[in-house]
Amino acid sequence: MSENTVDPQQYIIKDEPYYESVGDEIALYEAAYNARMPMMLKGPTGCGKSRFVEHMAYKLGRPLITVACNEDMTASDLVGRFLLDADGTKWQDGPLTTAARIGAICYLDEVVEARQDTTVVIHPLTDHRRSLPLDKKGELVEAHADFQLVISYNPGYQSLMKDLKQSTKQRFGALDFDYPEETIEVAIVVKESGVDKETAEKLVQISHRARNLKGHGLDEGISTRLLVYAGQLISKGVEPQSACMMTMVTPLTDDPDMRDTLNAAVQTFFG
Ligand SMILES: Nc1ncnc2c1ncn2[C@@H]1O[C@H](COP(=O)(O)OP(=O)(O)O)[C@@H](O)[C@H]1O
Ligand SMILES: [Mg+2]
Repeated sequence: MSENTVDPQQYIIKDEPYYESVGDEIALYEAAYNARMPMMLKGPTGCGKSRFVEHMAYKLGRPLITVACNEDMTASDLVGRFLLDADGTKWQDGPLTTAARIGAICYLDEVVEARQDTTVVIHPLTDHRRSLPLDKKGELVEAHADFQLVISYNPGYQSLMKDLKQSTKQRFGALDFDYPEETIEVAIVVKESGVDKETAEKLVQISHRARNLKGHGLDEGISTRLLVYAGQLISKGVEPQSACMMTMVTPLTDDPDMRDTLNAAVQTFFG
């Protein structure tokens, strides 16, 4: 197999990822995809951004290549590099290059985690050029007509040290995400964890109390993901108070007072 032949089928999502719509985000994203507009999904951790992209890739029938960004990631990790093997050196495409070649949706998850010198490699793919220069290889990859770049961004982690430059931000259309409203979040917890509606409602109520503490001792509220975790433990027979402690209190904070406050909320509903 030649170095750059990748079967797009391997990145096609076979089963529909369950996604509960919270507004008009599906129609808006479809319009953005039709324009091949690079998109930024903004919102706190665990509120459904990744699930949304998976759902949309499935719906649009496009392969999805996801990259979890981190600060050790280099431009070569995205673009590709020469590798040494028995026959000498061989070019290996990185995930961004593969996505551009095969017309995938490339999802750079938590892109602020990457260093700015890494982030700039996406620039030529996000304007009229729609191309990716592989400098080390001396090749200019023209993006496939179906290629789209999507990034996720958590505004809560914004700091001067770690933020996207305006010159990067202003290359994207953006959609705001947040924890879903009550009835929708209850439906998600029921579907994803298998608990009954009444239990899901209690979990969501507890999260509402905790979310009010954001900025008053908590950096982030209890995410939808954590509610699903709590529900999954309860479904497995774990006693609700212990399940809530493990998933909705202990991961969030080490501050004893804050833990007391959260435990009190749990007691109110499951005491
Ligand atoms: N709108 C939604 N529809 C279905 N599941 C959701 C939704 N929002 C959150 N979830 C649940 O929460 C979990 C975390 O969502 P995820 O997309 O991974 O969050 P993010 O990428 O924003 O950190 C998912 O695995 C899913 O169980
Ligand atoms: Mg995610």
